[in-house]
Amino acid sequence: MTTILGLSGSLRVGSFNSALLRAAAASMPKDATLEIGTIKGIPLYDGDVEAQGMPETVEKLKERVVATDGLLLVTPEYNHTVPGVLKNAIDWLTRPPADIPRVFAKRPVGLIGASPGGFGTLLSQTAWLPVLKTLGTAAYFGGRLQVSRADGVFDGAGNMVDERIREQLKKYLAGFCEFVAASRRAS
Ligand code: FNR
Repeated sequence: MTTILGLSGSLRVGSFNSALLRAAAASMPKDATLEIGTIKGIPLYDGDVEAQGMPETVEKLKERVVATDGLLLVTPEYNHTVPGVLKNAIDWLTRPPADIPRVFAKRPVGLIGASPGGFGTLLSQTAWLPVLKTLGTAAYFGGRLQVSRADGVFDGAGNMVDERIREQLKKYLAGFCEFVAASRRAS
C-alpha cells in the first residue's frame, strides 16, 4: 500500500485548494491512500522560537511526512509565486538542517493547485521548483494539474462538480502513485 500525505497551502475554510485535496483523497488509485494533513497551527518561523525548542505542530507534521511514502502539495498562487503560509510550513520542516535528508531527500513530491484565475497556479508551481530542488526531493514531472477557473470546478460546499477535471486529477494521481511506488521499490 502506497501512502501519501497531502497538504493544502490555504488556511481558509472555503479554500479551492483544500477542496482539490479532498477530491484527490477520494480519487486515489487502488493500493494507495492519501492522508489529509494540515499546516494550520504552524507558527511563523522565528529563530528565537526555534532556539527554545521545536513547536509541537512542526514536530508532528514532520513525523507525518517521514511516515508516508510521498508528499502532495496543493498550492495556491499569490502574486505569481508561492503562498507564504505554505512556504513557512516547509521552511519549519527544514529545521534543523540536519533533518533535511530524513524528511526531504529523495522524497517523491507532487504539486498541483487551483486558482479562480485563468492559469491555474502555473507560476506558483514553477516557483516551487527551486525549493524542491534545494531540498533534494524527487519532484514528480510525469504529469501536471493546474485547475483554473476554480469557482466553476467546485460547488459552494467544496465538492468537485467538473468531471473533466476529475478525470485529469485521477490521471495525475495514478501517475504520481506509480512514481512513488517505483521510488519505494528502488530504495
Ligand atoms: C491571489 N490570487 C491569485 N490568483 C492567481 O491565479 N494568481 C495570483 O498571482 C494571485 N495572487 C493573489 C494574491 C493574494 C494576496 C491573494 C489573497 C490572492 C487569488 C487566489 O488564487 C484565490 O484567492 C484563491 O482562492 C486562493 O486559494 P484558496 O484559498 O481558494 O485555496
